[in-house]
Amino acid sequence: MKHLLDQGYGGKLKLIYIDPPFFTKASYDAVLKVGGENIKHPAYDDKWQRGLYWYLRELTARLIIMKELLADDGLIWLHLDWHAVHYAKIIMDEIFGESRFVNEIIWTYKSGGSSKKRFARKHDNILVYSKTGTYDLQPLEEKSYNRQFKPYRFKGVKEYKDDVGWYTMVNMKDVWTIDMVGRTSAERTGYATQKPELLIERIVDCCTSEGDICADFFCGSGTLPAVAARRGRRFIGCDVGSLAVESTVARLSNQKSGFRVFGTQAGHEAGVSASLEAEFKIDYDDILSSDKRLLKIELLSAREKRLSSAIDEKSKDTIRKSAKADPLAVVEAWSVDYDYDGQVHRPTAVFLRNRGRIESACEKIVDGRDRVVHIKVVDIMGNVTYYEGGKQNG
Ligand SMILES: C[S@@+](CC[C@H](N)C(=O)[O-])C[C@H]1O[C@@H](n2cnc3c(N)ncnc32)[C@H](O)[C@@H]1O
Repeated sequence: MKHLLDQGYGGKLKLIYIDPPFFTKASYDAVLKVGGENIKHPAYDDKWQRGLYWYLRELTARLIIMKELLADDGLIWLHLDWHAVHYAKIIMDEIFGESRFVNEIIWTYKSGGSSKKRFARKHDNILVYSKTGTYDLQPLEEKSYNRQFKPYRFKGVKEYKDDVGWYTMVNMKDVWTIDMVGRTSAERTGYATQKPELLIERIVDCCTSEGDICADFFCGSGTLPAVAARRGRRFIGCDVGSLAVESTVARLSNQKSGFRVFGTQAGHEAGVSASLEAEFKIDYDDILSSDKRLLKIELLSAREKRLSSAIDEKSKDTIRKSAKADPLAVVEAWSVDYDYDGQVHRPTAVFLRNRGRIESACEKIVDGRDRVVHIKVVDIMGNVTYYEGGKQNG
């Protein structure tokens, strides 16, 4: 966010939506597929050894910068639940001003457990604030069923009928009933705490127009970037976890949205070293009566050098077994920059695992001069390894 401010993005973001850790004191997994089987991998922690005060301190520091980035006519949506939302409301009042409060959206759903000791906790809270009090918000509409589902026939009131009965369209209320992303849902990425696209679509639709910039600084599996891109909005997504970043990249690539990835240390999470050992075949064929050459690259194999101690034994076994059966089983994606400038990986060929399969070779006609081929390989756990001319780099 500091970088965005330095780049002149202050006051440019029309929508900021954040869904940060909720102070649940739990750890979250992602369910990943390898060789057709599911394994569990840690995605992120919501544990705060120093307690609520430190959680709120971290959140507050970030909200203050977000206010600077928010457009004068923009809205910020802070998604939390009962664990911290009441403290956050007071903080938002302090940062944005009590009078800038717009809504508290209650998102209610059915999934999850319950307890005999209390009523089932089945909602999240989304606090909505404006920066200046003047903002764009197009209230959406929803169905309101008539009493006994019969027509009223009031003058000037439009009524409609569906399988349930007669209804009118009214301004949408602040309680939204939307199912969580189900186990079998097509939009499911496997990332724990992934939010439904329908929820994010409502948010994007009601307060932004095509071309506006939408940002999510805790983007997880990339729900906001994916929705914003499909709706013709510009977007910024950001996350500390490499699994989150790679999930977002895969999601945007699958829906063929354009984007660029910026990272500290060429996409590495600080302190996480490469763990993948990949083997390539890189060949040049001369092209008759031309000074051009055919550059051919094949990804032969990729092996995990060590598996994180955070992965359970059963999942480790599944990974090892799959890797034996298929030398590319742990590769989630790979990409090639045919002419590396020594600084930024700018791939022109990108391959993603799709329905369990991944391309293993590519070729390109290139001119005769010397060049450095730069290859990025992402494993199923989101670990990124770079290879320069076939050798590991960083
Ligand atoms: C509740 S999840 C977001 C899920 C997301 N809305 C989705 O639909 O997939 C919270 C995310 O915040 C990220 N996170 C935690 N601390 C962070 C920080 N300081 N900066 C950026 N991201 C952070 C976690 O890695 C996690 O992906």
